[in-house]
Amino acid sequence: MSIQWFPGHMTAARKKAAETLALADVVVEVLDARLPAASSNPMIGELRAFRQRPCLKLLNKADLADPEATAAWLRHFSQQPGVAAIAVSCKKASDIGKIRPLAQKLAPHRNDAVKPLRLMIMGIPNVGKSTLLNALVKKKVAAVGDQPAVTKSQQRIDIDSRLTLYDTPGLLWPKIADPVDGLMLAASHAVGVNAYIGEDVAIFLADYLRQTYPALLAARYGPALAGRDGVGILDAVAEKRGCRKRGGEWDREKAAAILLTDYRSGALGRISLETPALRAARIQQLAAVDEM
Ligand code: G4P
Repeated sequence: MSIQWFPGHMTAARKKAAETLALADVVVEVLDARLPAASSNPMIGELRAFRQRPCLKLLNKADLADPEATAAWLRHFSQQPGVAAIAVSCKKASDIGKIRPLAQKLAPHRNDAVKPLRLMIMGIPNVGKSTLLNALVKKKVAAVGDQPAVTKSQQRIDIDSRLTLYDTPGLLWPKIADPVDGLMLAASHAVGVNAYIGEDVAIFLADYLRQTYPALLAARYGPALAGRDGVGILDAVAEKRGCRKRGGEWDREKAAAILLTDYRSGALGRISLETPALRAARIQQLAAVDEM
């Protein structure tokens, strides 16, 4: 399944992002920790490389991701030049406090009121940019009592005299080349429901869970899953939850919605959809297909 959308304002958004980046010192790229490569918009990398801006990669929603996979991703990103990476949950105040000092390290010369640190927050939809922004803003408001410390004009937010944020809208790219990336993005809810078929995404997810996290799957839906493929697992979910269609057959559409909701909310456990090793293997596989 290939996922596509056609935002008419894509070019304008890119132009605007490039203009804003010219004013920023560090890009804070918010990623979904469960799929850090698939949730990275290639355009962000291109714009950043053009302007030579360092990047702080925030692997957000780390509370939902597999800690081992997240640790592997952090090692992977920390090997990239001009990049620092941290796993966070933007819902946790203690995690929010770690972000500013790390960003500051990437632009040590921007550290006073004359030259405030200017961070540009970027990321695809639903990775937690608004949650991050609200947390950063609230933190400061709380620290200064009831003084209005925050000035918001367009997308610029002056947190204090030493820190300015540029907020950008969630940027998607017009065509996702690798269908597996599309499925991961749909499973994590970065892509709107109109762009995919829930059952296809749930079958992909069920198959992946069966291979990678069978114990979590069994803990949630019972042990009768052994030997079943993705479709069979949806039927087992339907059976466990009593979802039948009028004619008596299992309602896979409902089962798909249940599985996706359980995954997205973390009810299934801490699950990552990719690791650096899986990603590298996938890239090799795609390259081999291209060569044929
Ligand atoms: P966006 O601006 O990038 O589009 O994302 P936004 O902040 O709106 O967050 C998207 C969803 O992700 C929200 O859930 C938000 O609560 C959730 N979220 C953000 N950061 C974290 C995190 O660190 N951990 C977890 N578990 N969730 C996070 P929602 O379902 O739309 O709303 P809500 O009911 O969860 O508030």
